[in-house]
Amino acid sequence: MSEYLSLPLLHIEKGQGCWLYDVEGKRYLDGNASVWTNVHGHNDPEINQVLRDQLDRIAHSTYLGLSHPVGAELGRRLVEISPPGLDRVTFSDNGSCAIEIALKQSFQYWQLVGKPEKRLVVSMENAYHGDTFGAMSAGDSPGFHERFRSWTFENRVFKAPICKEYDGEVHEADMSASLTNLESILQAESDQIASVILEPSIQGAAGMRLQPPGFLREVRDLCDRFDTHLILDEVFVGFGRTGSILVCSSENVRPDFLCLAKGLTAGYLPLAATLTRDRIFEAFLGEFDSGNAFFHGHTFTGNPLAATVALKSLEKLESLSHSGSLDHAIRVFGNSLRSHFTGHPNVKEIRHRGLAAAIDLQPGAGETSPWEVNDRKGLKVCLRARDHGLLLRPLLDSILLVPPLVISDEEIEFLISGLRKSIDETLI
Ligand SMILES: Cc1ncc(COP(=O)(O)O)c(C=O)c1O
Repeated sequence: MSEYLSLPLLHIEKGQGCWLYDVEGKRYLDGNASVWTNVHGHNDPEINQVLRDQLDRIAHSTYLGLSHPVGAELGRRLVEISPPGLDRVTFSDNGSCAIEIALKQSFQYWQLVGKPEKRLVVSMENAYHGDTFGAMSAGDSPGFHERFRSWTFENRVFKAPICKEYDGEVHEADMSASLTNLESILQAESDQIASVILEPSIQGAAGMRLQPPGFLREVRDLCDRFDTHLILDEVFVGFGRTGSILVCSSENVRPDFLCLAKGLTAGYLPLAATLTRDRIFEAFLGEFDSGNAFFHGHTFTGNPLAATVALKSLEKLESLSHSGSLDHAIRVFGNSLRSHFTGHPNVKEIRHRGLAAAIDLQPGAGETSPWEVNDRKGLKVCLRARDHGLLLRPLLDSILLVPPLVISDEEIEFLISGLRKSIDETLI
């Protein structure tokens, strides 16, 4: 917190497209998509218009015991874009809550079908699912959560696969050790395991760690073999980040629970959703005194303003994707990363997929000793990047690049060349 207090604080007053403006009128490219949420840019006229129209109807009416047309329509649309068979939607208002709901529904399901001993969660190494207690328990993110370990529930952790990909091509991939490890955990304890939880395709908060194509299908098959639920956390990757609207739909893998947030409302308003299967929902039916109901609700769950934005954003995202613009941006982004950073002495590794990348920094080519943690080189590069009109977030000595999906070719060049200058000026 001392560091936080010592940093120059930026007050962002307005946004336009991919740009943010501070109170002094200086503009910055939003290279962090406002914490990985922004899809269509800031201040989008079409989204603004539907939001104003909805505001003239109603800002909020509870979704607990009631419904509203935009919530119902959004539920229908989410079912449509998800793999067939995910037919039930529980709304909430942030990614961590979407995870809590999936975990609680999984635990309750096993109780309701007479297998209360199935209580464990299996997570992948380096997983991050949010900062609430259930989400921390299901994660493997010591930097964020170790301090709270004694208050969280026990989980099992399996090895992550290896996947090095650039220019849209996988250069090194090995999922066998990861799958063998998962299989042995399931084999040993499946009678006590409720669910396996996974951020499919990219683990964002772990520093854009990638999974090889086909990995998700293998994990699904293992969950089927050992009768455990599969919870997919698409809070980061969902809504276009990897190039497809949902990773699970594009890989044709149906999870038992699907968690969505962040890009769901294009970076406008808080909203999240947890989808599940009818077969799971049916276990929760019964007379009131059975206690089978899922007693869980958040005050602003399914907020109509947020649901309206989500519907409009989804419509716009579908045309962005169908027009080929999203694929184009991904290609330009990859080419630009390659042309600016291949062979750069301060770049140890680049992980890139879709419109997401992590650049691991190092003191110099062949330099084996890393910087001291308190050197905060990643942070220093990001502060320097402000002078080049960029807002970026580091993850220790990695720089994460997650621009809005509508970023133009010129803006991509501005982003990557500005980052390169910032690295050169800070490190060389
Ligand atoms: C994969 C993943 N899951 C869950 C979360 C938590 O979402 P929220 O910050 O909305 O609680 C995040 C946030 O970064 C995330 O990246």
